[in-house]
Amino acid sequence: AAPSYEHILTSIPKPGVGLITLNRPKALNALSSPLFKELNAALDNYDNDKSIGAIIITGSEKAFAAGADIKEMAPLSFSAAYNDNFIAPWSHLSNAIRTPVIAAVSGYALGGGCELALMCDILYCTSKASFGQPEVKLGTIPGAGGSQRLTRAIGKSRAMELILTGRNFSGKEAGEWGVAARVVEGGKDELLEEALKTAETIAGYSRVAVLAAKEVVNKSQELSLREGVEYERSLFHGLFGSKDQKIGMTAFAEKKKPEWSHE
Ligand code: HXC
Repeated sequence: AAPSYEHILTSIPKPGVGLITLNRPKALNALSSPLFKELNAALDNYDNDKSIGAIIITGSEKAFAAGADIKEMAPLSFSAAYNDNFIAPWSHLSNAIRTPVIAAVSGYALGGGCELALMCDILYCTSKASFGQPEVKLGTIPGAGGSQRLTRAIGKSRAMELILTGRNFSGKEAGEWGVAARVVEGGKDELLEEALKTAETIAGYSRVAVLAAKEVVNKSQELSLREGVEYERSLFHGLFGSKDQKIGMTAFAEKKKPEWSHE
């Protein structure tokens, strides 16, 4: 049976595509610990399901997510946060999920919501989406990678300005700065349609090749150029051992459509 959740919705809108919709409308999808636990469980379910080739995370028309749950965090002590490693579950997506994840952002993506979107492999948004790292206004700082990922995405001066002033930036700006791969005019329906098309395209390829492609692009964020190129080369050489490399290249030569084995 499909798992049932309280704070998220899950569905398979197209073959091979797992959709996760953040669904805490009364709190603008504030990312509480219980919500994040469910999000991680849903991500794991899709990631372990060999029939799923791409995952989309989205929210509502009004909010992708308005941040970590401020009411949950307000009374936290240092020792409670440190002992329980409070924000560590937020790293699961980046550390463990191998299937490509697309963020489809409509409305607010603030604080932890912006950080969650930045963790995804591909970010699509509406032009009116509203991103920001407003933590400074709450007497704190980004805590789920925002200072690192936003800075890598848009450069130091822009990231510094946004994080020090807490001002929001629009979906349009996200597109111009390269945070978003695609900016959609219109609302969540149009946005989701674009995200679904891309997810379906990715899910239509060999799973081995897709996982390897995601892995090597992510290495570029961690390694020196030389180490990254060598890492890519090893995995590229390794893929000559996959069935799908033979299937893909033979199909090209025979002018046929490849039937992937995902092996
Ligand atoms: C808890 C939140 C919330 C949040 C909104 N709500 N954001 N609850 N945590 N991050 C709740 C409100 O309290 C309110 O509950 C309900 O959602 C609707 O929100 P309103 O403020 O009434 O809506 P609106 O007037 O339309 O304003 C929308 C908004 C505003 C501009 C997005 O909600 C807002 O500023 N939210 C906080 C944004 C923020 O600072 N995010 C960063 C959080 S810190 P009630 O019960 O009153 O109806 C963070 C740290 C990350 O993310 C670091 C670690 C991961």
